[in-house]
Amino acid sequence: MSDSDLVAAARKAREFAHAGYSKFKVGAALETADGAVITGCNIENATYGLTICAERVAMFKALSEGHRQFRRIAIVAETDGPTPPCGACRQILWEFGGDLEVILATLTREVGRHQLRDLLPLPFDNRLLR
Ligand code: THU
Repeated sequence: MSDSDLVAAARKAREFAHAGYSKFKVGAALETADGAVITGCNIENATYGLTICAERVAMFKALSEGHRQFRRIAIVAETDGPTPPCGACRQILWEFGGDLEVILATLTREVGRHQLRDLLPLPFDNRLLR
């Protein structure tokens, strides 16, 4: 799958966002090691605090469907610049996805590309639990 196809999948997923409170819709598309694409969107609710970001929806969907190895994630929002993943999402993506490539895009163009290790330096992870 090309980068632009992965970004297009994230843009499409964004359209399903439940973002009635913030009005800030986000889409994510996670590519597995075997080339499957699992998408997510942010889902807000009336408590606010139980909101879940697009990235974690995508990862939890993928894990719940048996996927275990991942390559890349594309994240899309309607902004001029990049919408990087929040701290909670960085933690979850690192734990289950490792050093993913993170592609950040708007509705019209790619605006950033990072390795997850650079977005989450000095991570807490299961190596510290042994
Ligand atoms: N949000 C995401 O889904 N992903 C991000 O990377 C940043 C923030 C959502 C959470 C909330 O629904 C809205 O964007 C505003 O924070």
